[in-house]
Amino acid sequence: MKVTIVGAGAVGASCAEYVAIKNFASEVVLLDIKEGYAEGKAMDLMQTATLNGFDTKITGSTNDYSKTANSDIAVITSGIPRKPGMTREELIGINAGIVKEVSANLIKHSPDVTLIVVSNPMDTMTYLVHKTTGLPKNKIIGMGGALDSARFKYRLSEALECPPSDVDGMVIGGHSDTGMVPLTRLATRNSVPVSAFLSEERLNQVAEDTKVGGATLTKLLGTSAWYAPGAAVSGLVQAIACDQKKMFPCSALLDGEYGLSDLCIGVPAILGKDGLEKIVELKLDDAEKNKMKESAEGVKKTNGLLDV
Ligand code: NAI
Repeated sequence: MKVTIVGAGAVGASCAEYVAIKNFASEVVLLDIKEGYAEGKAMDLMQTATLNGFDTKITGSTNDYSKTANSDIAVITSGIPRKPGMTREELIGINAGIVKEVSANLIKHSPDVTLIVVSNPMDTMTYLVHKTTGLPKNKIIGMGGALDSARFKYRLSEALECPPSDVDGMVIGGHSDTGMVPLTRLATRNSVPVSAFLSEERLNQVAEDTKVGGATLTKLLGTSAWYAPGAAVSGLVQAIACDQKKMFPCSALLDGEYGLSDLCIGVPAILGKDGLEKIVELKLDDAEKNKMKESAEGVKKTNGLLDV
């Protein structure tokens, strides 16, 4: 199993580390445009192999895509991250050009690859890859909902004063401060609906804190986060590599599901060896349906800024 990660910055390197530690991939190639950067990150990570007990071989390359040949899965984390006060949508100008070029280069050397798009604005970047590469739609997956759901579960566990592993919950919709739809109605603590423990007001607060989860960290860190994003991407990579048939909210190209078409937006999806194998259609109530519709309008507005 060969995994390539393009963009050896904060999120790309974090993803490489988690993939290696989970020990399911034989090879990880890190590639970056910055001279020597990916090689340095790869060497540093390889020097953790005996400490962390993994056998995955990690190599780095400065923009030589021949090193990525025959990758099974490739992750696109190249592009600029937001600074405090910025929205993800403001990154579109620079990142669209990068994502388009990177995805074309990856496919040239790995025609059967499954691509995981991470660069922001992620739903629009995923749509761009669908529009420009010609890969089958199950092989292009955007990562956002897995991270947003992890942040939702963290906030829920905080409110419930319980371990995060006791909590289950999901965020669907667009990966943006206004577009996320945390499904508080369906969230559970040890299979019990969280509404049994928390007031509606507290649950609304959890949902709001989740939606600005990335912005909160960007303000604290001065740049966007990397541990949880890297771990979330590694979860998607593992589900595909190990054919886990595991469900994650992912940005998928919709064709009528949830009453939406011709956009990529976060919906629950089963991931396995064929990439995004199935979109799961949840029964949403009217309020949730409206939020999803509004979220889709926001994503489409950003898509409108693309030159495709
Ligand atoms: P970073 O600045 O630490 O790393 C980005 C890397 O991409 C840099 O090393 C840069 O040299 C490289 N790069 C730029 N152009 C390239 C090209 N044409 N080819 C190869 N490499 C290139 O940024 P960070 O924090 O790792 O974030 C990366 C992207 O992921 C950003 O767009 C950020 O907004 C996004 N992100 C998305 C998340 C999600 O949930 N979808 C979560 C966190 C970040």
